[in-house]
Amino acid sequence: MTADPRIRLRDVTLADADLLDTWGQDEAARSAFNDFGEAPNPAPREVLRSGPLRNEHNGVLIVERMSDAAPIGTVGWHVVRYGPNPGSDAWNIGIELRPEARGRGFGTEAQRQLTDWLFANTTVNRVEAQTDVENVAEQRSLAKAGFTREGIARGSQFRAGGYHDLVTYSRLRDDR
Ligand SMILES: CC(C)(COP(=O)(O)OP(=O)(O)OC[C@H]1O[C@@H](n2cnc3c(N)ncnc32)[C@H](O)[C@@H]1OP(=O)(O)O)[C@@H](O)C(=O)NCCC(=O)NCCS
Repeated sequence: MTADPRIRLRDVTLADADLLDTWGQDEAARSAFNDFGEAPNPAPREVLRSGPLRNEHNGVLIVERMSDAAPIGTVGWHVVRYGPNPGSDAWNIGIELRPEARGRGFGTEAQRQLTDWLFANTTVNRVEAQTDVENVAEQRSLAKAGFTREGIARGSQFRAGGYHDLVTYSRLRDDR
């Protein structure tokens, strides 16, 4: 039996723009595994004025704790192509929780919910995630969210002055 959800994923709204910018500029809170040396772009207010932050190529959702409706992080996804035809498109997902929200299982729930939502609302066969081989929490979280470990992409990510090995995980539509 699945436990009651403790988080939900919701669209980003214009009212979240200042908060996202504050998080983006908070260098101390940025995970070393998501730190590429500069703050992310400001929240795109012109897009948010007309709708949520998602389209056919990528998207971002807020992770909200249900007990107090507090935003505790974001999940995002973008398309990756394994061939020239739309049937070979897959989603690559990512996550960043605020430091105080880590280590409580919320990341596992968020990545499971996001993957379920992507399979329910799009036609892809594959959702994947990549993380640094040293990011044990994310690897454990992905495994608990039903992802299968596939292999290492050596020296694939340049971050903090050096190249890092990434490990790829995936969930397929028919995986249980
Ligand atoms: C990675 C992240 C999404 C995981 O979510 P989370 O809610 O913190 O993790 P969970 O509580 O669901 O599970 C973490 C698991 O990893 C384990 N873990 C956590 N830190 C660990 C560490 N340093 N070494 C070994 N295991 C660790 C926990 O014990 C837990 O396993 P368990 O349930 O068997 O005890 C979250 O910590 C986060 O946002 N981190 C910063 C951003 C980041 O690294 N994103 C991914 C970049 S690709």
